[in-house]
Amino acid sequence: MDFLHLYQWGYKMESTIRFIKEKIGDFVPEIGIILGSGLGDFADEYNLISISYSDIPGFEKSRVEGHKGQLVFGNVHSKNVIMMQGRYHFYEGYSMQTVTYPIKVMKKLGVKVLIITNAAGAVTKNFTPGDLMFITDHINFMGTNPLIGLNDDGLGTRFPDMSEVYSKDLIVKARVIAEKLNISYQTGVYAATTGPSYETPAEIKMYSILGANAVGMSTVPEAIIANYCGLKVLGISCLTNYAAGVSDRPLNHNEVIETADKVKDNFKNLLTEFIKEV
Ligand code: HPA
Repeated sequence: MDFLHLYQWGYKMESTIRFIKEKIGDFVPEIGIILGSGLGDFADEYNLISISYSDIPGFEKSRVEGHKGQLVFGNVHSKNVIMMQGRYHFYEGYSMQTVTYPIKVMKKLGVKVLIITNAAGAVTKNFTPGDLMFITDHINFMGTNPLIGLNDDGLGTRFPDMSEVYSKDLIVKARVIAEKLNISYQTGVYAATTGPSYETPAEIKMYSILGANAVGMSTVPEAIIANYCGLKVLGISCLTNYAAGVSDRPLNHNEVIETADKVKDNFKNLLTEFIKEV
């Protein structure tokens, strides 16, 4: 075993946690939220303390346009939450370790439930852009896994079970809330690709045959790590567009942002109610 590596890893985590705790004092977050495209201002509404990723030892700067790149601590319906306003994407060139490090940090800070949100393309024809989709399971098409490398036995087991990465119990809660709020939703399987190019129609056809209902470029690495370290996960996709070839329109990032923006109020209401109930 490479003790030096584990020692360095432990040291890095310790300095991250020490730095954050100096800022947040005795605030203990119980719910973590990764805010995907268009949802960033949810964090602004509940911002008690924010810390830029670039200031946190062990974190890297987030480079994506429109993402602030900070951890935001807040209180929603008397629940302490930690929010990622902007995430690291694999397609930006970050390692899987960098992409998933914040999840391990959340675990160490006391988080028990992680809500992962994203924008995704609808693979299933009778889904409609603008719908939310509660993720029931995923298919990892990223060609790698964030757990590759030395295992930290203190966080999780070498070969974690993946039978219920997305908590059935949390999906039921989310569905009840969506119905109460009259928000149209779907449930389905999320397939993750590396991006940054969108998929070809042939790829989307293949993903569909293999059982995917939506496709995106994030979430799976974070969900794998969350499951590994024992967090309950709720995954929600905002279906911003039809995936390539599902409709005859070409894809563009502006459309993704526009649809995410339209759905944002529903999405925020759902999040708020969910946090209250969970
Ligand atoms: N494909 C991949 N990622 C996405 C899409 C898509 O169609 N829409 C939003 N994120």
